[in-house]
Order: sequence, then C-alpha cells, then structure tokens
Amino acid sequence: MVKITTLSELTIDGKLSLGPGASSKDLFGFYGDDLRAWFHGQRAAHDAIMVGAGTVRSDDPELTVRHAAGANPLRVIPCSLGDLPSDCGLLRDGVATLIAVSRKASPEIIAALEARAHVEVIVCGEDQVDLSALMAALEARGVRSLIVEGGSRLLHALHALGLVSRIIIKQIPIIAGAEDAPTYLRASPSGPALSLSRWRLEELFVLSGVAISIYSPFEAAA
Ligand SMILES: NC(=O)c1ccc[n+]([C@@H]2O[C@H](COP(=O)([O-])OP(=O)(O)OC[C@H]3O[C@@H](n4cnc5c(N)ncnc54)[C@H](OP(=O)(O)O)[C@@H]3O)[C@@H](O)[C@H]2O)c1
Repeated sequence: MVKITTLSELTIDGKLSLGPGASSKDLFGFYGDDLRAWFHGQRAAHDAIMVGAGTVRSDDPELTVRHAAGANPLRVIPCSLGDLPSDCGLLRDGVATLIAVSRKASPEIIAALEARAHVEVIVCGEDQVDLSALMAALEARGVRSLIVEGGSRLLHALHALGLVSRIIIKQIPIIAGAEDAPTYLRASPSGPALSLSRWRLEELFVLSGVAISIYSPFEAAA
C-alpha cells in the first residue's frame, strides 16, 4: 500500500493561499532557508509527489528537489480530461511526470501529453480520476511513499477515501484575511463526503518561526 503524507502550509486563519486564484507560492516568501531545506528534504524522502490539476493551473509548481540533497520524486497529477495548460512548467521541464486521466480524456489530448518525452499518461476512472485505482497503479510501479502538496479538492478526496497516513501542516504566522481563500479541505461537487476523524499529534517543532505539526491517524497509535 502506498503511504500517503499530505504536506500543506496554512495561514493562522486556516487558508492555503492569500485569496481565490492566488498561488500558494506567495506563502514561500515567509520561509527561511532552514525551513526551505527541510521542506525540500521531505520531497526527496518520498518516491512520488502529487498535486491536483487545480494547483497546476493556479500555481504552475515545479515539484522538484532544489534546496536539499536527493532525487526528484516522480510527479503525479490527476487531471480528468488531461487539459493542463500546455505552457505549464511540468510539461516543459523534462522531469518525469505521470498524468492520470479518466476515460473522458480524448485520445488527441492523451497523444499530445505523451508526445512530451518525460510525460506518461495512465487512464483510471470513468468521469473523474479514480484515486484508489491510481494508488494501486503507483504501487504496481514500485511507489511506496507519496507526498501530496494540495490543493483543497484533492486533499478532501484523499481524506474522504481514508487514504491519508500522515498530515504535515506548516503554520505560517500571517493572517490572510481573505474570507474566500481556499482552506485545507474543500469538497468537489460530486466527490465523496468526509466524516469526523481524529488525529494524533506526533511531532511539533519550529523552523524559521513556522510551527510544523505532524499528525497520524489516532487509531494507529500504540
Ligand atoms: N498552501 C498550500 O500548501 C497549497 C498547496 C497546493 C495548492 N494550494 C492552493 O490550493 C488551491 C488549488 O486547490 P483546488 O482545490 O482548486 O485544486 P486541486 O485540489 O489542486 O486540484 C483539484 C482538481 O484535481 C482534479 N482531480 C482529478 N481527479 C480528482 C479526484 N478524484 N478528486 C479531486 N480532484 C481530482 C480535478 O480537476 P479536473 O476536473 O481537471 O480533473 C479537480 O478540480 C490554489 O489556491 C493553490 O494555491 C495551496
């Protein structure tokens, strides 16, 4: 089974970015070098890294290891129709990337994605990407650990399916003040519902003035 860790930065008022449509990269400006190195070390410690298509559209992330030693994890992007921006960095930088699409993705879009040498496409799911099937496919490829860096809809879906083994929250000491900015979790209109779950605080420490808390499912406690 693929062990899934979520890693998110949240403002004091619980926001994932400074406003709707804003990039979470804005929050990186509140980092110091030691936190940046730790953060990239977390990426290097995992076999694969995933964000949702929404984050690729809003943040154009690199999802590579740059401020720590270690190899880049395999990038994994669930995007039901495969309609990522053709000029986004992930499609152009040559770093290995797996794009999961549903059966609704057209053969033309799949062919255009696969024309990029570093990009592989897998089909799992009918209308939307079936995340459980995607995890099985990753496991079959030898992926044992996956770090998921957002955003809200993907995180919500993974939690609703009970697939998350560890939560890492970096609490950035700012108040975004934007009521409609995304929070940690947000349901997709047709996605699975989320119910109450209890988590156990395993670690709590401060780097660059940012509190980092690490949680595991309460049931997993000894
Ligand atoms: N602070 C942080 O740590 C952090 C990190 C990352 C992102 N963010 C912020 O989060 C926001 C983006 O979040 P978001 O909720 O819009 O996007 P998201 O969670 O990154 O991506 C959601 C999209 O993924 C695709 N998807 C495919 N299969 C899915 C499935 N089974 N379940 C859920 N999604 C599936 C869907 O797009 P299709 O319909 O195209 O398939 C869906 O709309 C941005 O504001 C970004 O800045 C913050």
